[in-house]
Amino acid sequence: MSAAPIQLIRHRRGAWRLRRAPGQLQQLQQLLDAHSFWANGRSQRELSRMLAGSQAVISAWQGSRLVGFGRATSDGVFRAVLWDVVVAGEHQGRGLGRRIVEALLQEPALQGVERTYLMTTNSAGFYEQLGFTAVENQRLMLRHPFHSDSQ
Ligand SMILES: CC(C)(COP(=O)(O)OP(=O)(O)OC[C@H]1O[C@@H](n2cnc3c(N)ncnc32)[C@H](O)[C@@H]1OP(=O)(O)O)[C@@H](O)C(=O)NCCC(=O)NCCS
Repeated sequence: MSAAPIQLIRHRRGAWRLRRAPGQLQQLQQLLDAHSFWANGRSQRELSRMLAGSQAVISAWQGSRLVGFGRATSDGVFRAVLWDVVVAGEHQGRGLGRRIVEALLQEPALQGVERTYLMTTNSAGFYEQLGFTAVENQRLMLRHPFHSDSQ
C-alpha cells in the first residue's frame, strides 16, 4: 500500500486552525521537541503566541499527522526571517523541507521583501540549494534576556 500524499497548509494570519483545532498544537510541540534542538521544551501556550505573532505559517500533513512545519516573521517590505523549519525524521530527504521553504517564500508577507534572513547551525547546504548565501561581512549577535552583569 502506498503512503498517503503529504498536503501543505498555508495558514491564514493568526494560524487559528493550528492553534485551536484539537490536538494540533500538541502535534506541533511533539514535532519540535523530537526534531529540533533549538525549539524543544516550548509550551503549547508559548507556541500559540508564537503562531499568532508569525506573518507566514506553513504546516505539512500526512492524513491527520503533522509531518512538517515552517514559519516566518516579516515587516512586509524590508526584512523577513524564516524560523523553525522542521521535517519529521522519516520524511527527511524526500523534498518536503524544500516544499515548505518554497511555500513560505511565496507567502504574501514575504513576496517582494528586500531581504529574507535565516539562522542555521548545520543545514546551510539545504538553504544554499534554495538560493540563500552565507553572509560573511555581518555578525549574528544575541542578547540573552536573562543576562546579568554580575555573572
Ligand atoms: C533541514 C531539513 C528541514 C531539510 O528538510 P528535508 O525534507 O530533509 O530536505 P529536502 O529533502 O527538501 O532536501 C532538499 C535538498 O537539500 C539537501 N539537504 C537536506 N538537508 C541538508 C543539510 N542538513 N545539509 C545540506 N544539505 C541538505 C538535500 O540533500 C536535498 O538535495 P537534493 O535536492 O540535491 O537531493 C530537515 O532535514 C530537518 O527538519 N532537519 C532537522 C531540523 C533542522 O535542522 N532544521 C533546520 C533549521 S535551520
